[in-house]
Amino acid sequence: MKELTSEFIGGAVKPEQFPEINLPEFAFSGRSNVGKSSLLNTILLRKNFAQVSSKPGKTRQINFFKIEGKYIFADMPGFGYATISKEERQKLLKLNTDYFKLRQNLALVFLLVDSRLEPQKYDMAQIELLENLGRNYVIVLNKTDKISNEALTKKIKEYEFLLQYCNFLVEFLPFSSITRKGRDELLAIVRKFEHQWKELKQI
Ligand code: GTP
Ligand code: MG
Repeated sequence: MKELTSEFIGGAVKPEQFPEINLPEFAFSGRSNVGKSSLLNTILLRKNFAQVSSKPGKTRQINFFKIEGKYIFADMPGFGYATISKEERQKLLKLNTDYFKLRQNLALVFLLVDSRLEPQKYDMAQIELLENLGRNYVIVLNKTDKISNEALTKKIKEYEFLLQYCNFLVEFLPFSSITRKGRDELLAIVRKFEHQWKELKQI
């Protein structure tokens, strides 16, 4: 497996700070502690490039990384952690909504969910937001190292039933940062959407 070259471009806590880049962008979103930063490190094969929380809720800005000089990964802040103040939560929610509304070069969203849990209120709210905005998204069932294959199949069926009328769901992707399950598949999806984005932009 090849390590991917990556360059930290910057962080943003408000839309004015979003870097202006004409490259396809992939956002990694999901509740706090679901494993977004770990997933990014697994994809890049870097130990500690994206910051992994020792305390959940650590990523409180959107971090932008340029990968292989070709596309952008955006590590989104997580939600649902109790220790954060109401005011800060509102700010993060607004940042999240603004990003999905405004980000012009966004090609695809990877929404991470915990494969061990029932779909959470926050997961469903994110899905609703993405559907309303017409953003394509992949649901990443993460931490599959913690469940059996049977449980995983059952969980996917559950989501399929719940999301049968969704229009912008691309696919479900089982993943684990421990076993690296799903890494190649995720990169294949990135490549596909990178090409699609370029065709649309006629680059
Ligand atoms: P925030 O930045 O708070 O939103 O969290 P995050 O979504 O970036 O999660 P992070 O990658 O920091 O991981 C949270 C915890 O889950 C850490 O203790 C990780 O070691 C653990 N973790 C992440 N991915 C996996 C996985 O695939 N399997 C298992 N078993 N644990 C994981
Ligand atoms: Mg994080």
